[in-house]
Amino acid sequence: MNFQSVEFEAAAGRADQLKKSDLPEVVFAGKSNVGKSSLINKLVSRKALARVSATPGKTATINFFRLPACRLVDLPGYGYAKVSQNEKQRWAKLMQGYFDDDRRIALVVQILDMRHEPTADDFDMINFLIERELPFLVVCTKCDKLNKTQFAAQENYFASLFDEHGIEFIPYSSQTGFGLETLKQRIENAVLG
Ligand code: GTP
Ligand code: MG
Repeated sequence: MNFQSVEFEAAAGRADQLKKSDLPEVVFAGKSNVGKSSLINKLVSRKALARVSATPGKTATINFFRLPACRLVDLPGYGYAKVSQNEKQRWAKLMQGYFDDDRRIALVVQILDMRHEPTADDFDMINFLIERELPFLVVCTKCDKLNKTQFAAQENYFASLFDEHGIEFIPYSSQTGFGLETLKQRIENAVLG
């Protein structure tokens, strides 16, 4: 699948600004600052297509990026404590608007930080994906920050969480490209069938 010819298409800050769902969509979800935008950039081999920041809450809109065969959808991160109550409500409405819109979701890439246990918000999100019967896999990012021993320990930990539920997880790094080919393969299978 062509991951190179990509362009920014639209940003939606409110549900009524959402683009029509006329193409399969690959959706990137995860808590604030986990590395969603970095992963999208890596996938499409671009440095700054999606805005990356060391400050959490960088992506405040749902951003759509167009590839020939599908759309990549960068969701605003959840779980950032310093966001105002108003902003949290806007976020919840926007996400609800997106997922209630009967969209052609080919795959949700749920991103976790490989160094840490998933948060309560992460588990809520995963349970939501299961309840809605949405196709998804987990990407455990920032694996470059783990040494060999830590990597093996975290891999076992995530396997203990997910294997029995048949949930696939992919250790990954936007820094080194570890896991990138596997992820591309999964996306291609989901989009092209
Ligand atoms: P929001 O838009 O705020 O929800 O954040 P995000 O999930 O889009 O995260 P973003 O891609 O902006 O990355 C957040 C920070 O983590 C940045 O400083 C990135 O450089 C860093 N980062 C992302 N992925 C990796 C990775 O695989 N390894 C390392 N070492 N750092 C990473
Ligand atoms: Mg982002």
